[in-house]
Amino acid sequence: MTRYAFFQDQIVPIEQAQVSIMTHTFNYGTGCFAGIRAYWNDDTGELNVFRLEDHYKRFLESANLLRAELPYTPADLSAVTLELLAREGWRQDAYIRPLHYKTDEIIGVRVHGLTDAVAIFSVPMGDYLARGGIHACVSSWRRVDDNAIPARGKIIGAYANSSLIKSDAVLSGFDEAIVLNQDGHVSEGSAANLMLIRDGALITPPITDNILEGIVRRSLMTLAREELGLTVVERSIDRSELYRADEAFFCGTGVQIAPIARIDHRDIGNGGIGPITQQLSDLFFRVVRGQEPKYSAWLTKAPALESIETNE
Ligand SMILES: Cc1ncc(COP(=O)(O)O)c(C=O)c1O
Repeated sequence: MTRYAFFQDQIVPIEQAQVSIMTHTFNYGTGCFAGIRAYWNDDTGELNVFRLEDHYKRFLESANLLRAELPYTPADLSAVTLELLAREGWRQDAYIRPLHYKTDEIIGVRVHGLTDAVAIFSVPMGDYLARGGIHACVSSWRRVDDNAIPARGKIIGAYANSSLIKSDAVLSGFDEAIVLNQDGHVSEGSAANLMLIRDGALITPPITDNILEGIVRRSLMTLAREELGLTVVERSIDRSELYRADEAFFCGTGVQIAPIARIDHRDIGNGGIGPITQQLSDLFFRVVRGQEPKYSAWLTKAPALESIETNE
């Protein structure tokens, strides 16, 4: 089976999508990326991409932080992605990875005056974290600060920070870590946002606490307000509040919704999956699988290959 990628403005067999070791972004991390999920629905035989254009809007904003000048709109990149998916023909859940990078093969740190490019590939993907209630620790690392590498941009170099956070947690026997910002407030997970339930309200750190402005986070805030009638509060969270939460979970494209059963060896609630987390999770999975018509605008159906070829 041939695998494909979008590379140098064309969809090519993935083996042809190669860059030199001298590439600026490979040397200095001066690029950004996105992570987008496509959900397979067995009943309808459709692959639906979740919030496709919203992901590309954030992607282009991240690239802009790195002074990239890319000749694409979110709609252009969405169209290319749908064509790529049609060629890949996944009949299972998939993950799409758009990359922005600086192609120049030069030595020297800067982000201006360089050539920017976009590449996109996709892979099949199931759950990234277990969804049965995980054990998280508070990391001894701090989240990259907005005045160092902006966390609101999904900047490649900043994922060395995420990787250190994740590995130290896993090698110490935890499933995932919660990381604090420079002020000591809760920021997020290594590659996911964090939400707590306290006294029936959903609480999540504000976008000014060095988090990635997550698309799943935003979607869940809407679902919690509109469908579950919850009060949603964006405010700074102290470390010790984590231990007092009734429920806690990570959310994001990769992790989807990953309930947290324990933090630093302390049970959260009764140490299982909390009832509100369960309700929100059930709703979220109905939405992404296309079973909630009210939210169908969040989904874009990947076309069949024939319809793409007919258009050529
Ligand atoms: C650091 C970080 N925070 C949060 C998220 C969640 O963002 P989104 O819901 O847009 O996937 C991600 C990516 O998935 C991430 O890498």
